[in-house]
Amino acid sequence: MKRALKLSALAPVVLAAGLFASFAPAAEPAQQVSGEAVYKRWCTHCHSPGRGNPGTDSLQVKYGGKLPAVLLERSDLSPQAVAQFVRTGVLSMPPFRKTEVTDAELAAVSAYVAQKFPKP
Ligand code: HEC
Repeated sequence: MKRALKLSALAPVVLAAGLFASFAPAAEPAQQVSGEAVYKRWCTHCHSPGRGNPGTDSLQVKYGGKLPAVLLERSDLSPQAVAQFVRTGVLSMPPFRKTEVTDAELAAVSAYVAQKFPKP
């Protein structure tokens, strides 16, 4: 009788642990957003190296070779600057809405594009 009581007293603890274990993995996908994947989905077709890519062509004209026309070669763009351009758009680059690029994806892609930006 005593033993049975002890076991039933443990039940809520076991249940809680089980619940925690089943909820924990659900938090992971948000942290696993790949900036590279977001870039390939939304940016690369305009910003790849070579002629005929609207982003690269436009940045070639804008900076006249003083800065790299290829976005991923830039080291002067902070993650904040990239995020600002993505949400507001510029010339033929459309603004990206949160239904297209979520805030988590924006943070990931901005860090990816700004990977050469000096870290503080
Ligand atoms: C439809 C083509 C297109 C797509 C898609 C696109 N861009 Fe652009 N982007 C442009 C063009 C064109 C410019 C240059 C405008 C100019 O000359 O000022 C530009 C400019 C930028 C700039 C500003 C650079 C500067 O120094 O002025 C950033 C940052 C940028 N794009 C990031 C991105 C990111 C990140 C994505 C993906 C989320 C993306 N772009 C998707 C066309 C595009």
